[in-house]
Amino acid sequence: MPQLSPKIRDALNQQINVELSSAYRYLAMSAYCSEANLQGAATWLRLQWQEELAHATKLIDYMGDRGGGVSLKAVPQPPGAFQSLPDVFEKVLHDEQEVTAAIYRIYDLAMQEKDYAAQGLMQWYVQEQVEEENSAAEIVSMLRMAGDSAAGLLIVDRRLAERTAAG
Ligand SMILES: [Fe+2]
Ligand SMILES: [Fe+2]
Repeated sequence: MPQLSPKIRDALNQQINVELSSAYRYLAMSAYCSEANLQGAATWLRLQWQEELAHATKLIDYMGDRGGGVSLKAVPQPPGAFQSLPDVFEKVLHDEQEVTAAIYRIYDLAMQEKDYAAQGLMQWYVQEQVEEENSAAEIVSMLRMAGDSAAGLLIVDRRLAERTAAG
């Protein structure tokens, strides 16, 4: 398989940073929820942290298969404070929408560069984002239904506790 073009290599390095930054935000959110005694949400977010790490390492492995050139960048400090559980998941949804936009940009670039293999890789991420945006939107919608009801929030938290694996 041909080596990556410099443009695609730079874009994939940037995406590794996007995934690691996303992981770090989930870790911060998980810590907030744990401190707020929302253990279901804390568990869900911790699993999502692992999933984002896997998204980053998948890119690193792929770059290895295409001649290398991995260059890790600084991961920004995530927000430390959140307002509430709904605030956390509104941010999750927003963050995932931004990640989707970043993936689309790389897909566009891979088309411009006629890098069919990289298009295949990005197709995997496109599908993954469909799932991630869907699950975030579903949780946001449950939390909007719960509104200010403490009982409602606890029901959603218990539902989030049912997640058992990343993916
Ligand atoms: Fe991701
Ligand atoms: Fe994600």
